[in-house]
Amino acid sequence: MQTTSERFAQLKDKNDVVILGIESSCDETAAAVVKNGRQVLSSVISTQIAIHRLYGGVVPEVASRNHTLAAIPVVDEALTKAGMTLADVDAIAVTYGAGLIGALLVGVSTAKALSYAANKPLIMVNHIEGHVCANFVEFPALEPPFISLVASGGHTNVVDVKDYNSYSLLGSTTDDAIGEAFDKVARLLGLPYPGGPEIDRLAAQGEPNITFFRKKGVNSDLSVSYSGLKTAVVNYLHTMEQRGEKINVPDVCASMRKAAVDSLVDTVITAAKRTAYDKIVMAGGVACNSYLRQKMQLEGKKNGYAVYYPSPVLCTDNAVMIASRAYFAARAGKDLAPLSLNGNGSLRVGER
Ligand code: KG4
Ligand code: ZN
Repeated sequence: MQTTSERFAQLKDKNDVVILGIESSCDETAAAVVKNGRQVLSSVISTQIAIHRLYGGVVPEVASRNHTLAAIPVVDEALTKAGMTLADVDAIAVTYGAGLIGALLVGVSTAKALSYAANKPLIMVNHIEGHVCANFVEFPALEPPFISLVASGGHTNVVDVKDYNSYSLLGSTTDDAIGEAFDKVARLLGLPYPGGPEIDRLAAQGEPNITFFRKKGVNSDLSVSYSGLKTAVVNYLHTMEQRGEKINVPDVCASMRKAAVDSLVDTVITAAKRTAYDKIVMAGGVACNSYLRQKMQLEGKKNGYAVYYPSPVLCTDNAVMIASRAYFAARAGKDLAPLSLNGNGSLRVGER
């Protein structure tokens, strides 16, 4: 019988490569079967949002327990929907970082067990790079190089994607991720978790007429920061309360959204100008944000960049993007994982 290393080596020039992806880094348990990195044969996402909403945010241990319940059923459903069994896939890909460590370990352990039982190569996937690859699925003709913005609940990264397997971090947040800022401000306003979509929805009914921040220029190290914005909203809400004035929630949402997005868009455009690229590619849950999409399109057009972002279901956590990232690694003979693979909660883009 062939070893998994031998099987992995054959993927470099096999005609069609079918990969089962597994994702469990936060509060979505997901599995997907993807052909040649861009063609979705099935995608199943079991979300825990309703469970964590009771606590106003993700409770790590509760997330781990629910991944354990969902992991195998979700994989089974993904294979069934693709009309396949484990024997039909060429490799198994799993998110091993970044994310909540207990949550990651459930996906990693599940993938290792399946890899061992079926004698299939195991491919280790960096979640942040996975988010970027959602765009390869959405846009079949999209190719690197480009600048990518990964904006989610855990990350705010400006990334230089030189090639399918070359990711380097150009800038990131010095404190909270942008999605975290949306979620925290929503909580202050008494809105349910996750707060990003709520703020986006209410912002459409308001005006960005509150100045939380005096806008500075772009930082030369391309860093951004969100803790100050959250504090500014806290202070504003306190002051209004002390004065006995009514808070216009839609206006707060529109103003916060604008403050969070405008500086980030400027930072991404500045990053792109430092390269010779002509494309900007967005990814991650916050890439669902209607104002971010609109603003990036506008500024991209003004500055000569084509702007891409996936449909919402491919922006938030899913396993399609994980299988896609693994395909490009496999084609280059990279990221084959040992059965001793561990999770890494703080894995950064470009790292292994
Ligand atoms: O990528 P994702 O599913 O998980 C992480 O890897 O973190 O992103 C979830 C984040 C949450 O913070 C959520 O509030 C935010 O994405 N989000 C949004 C929107 N939709 C989701 N933030 C702003 N506007 C939205 N429309
Ligand atoms: Zn994510």
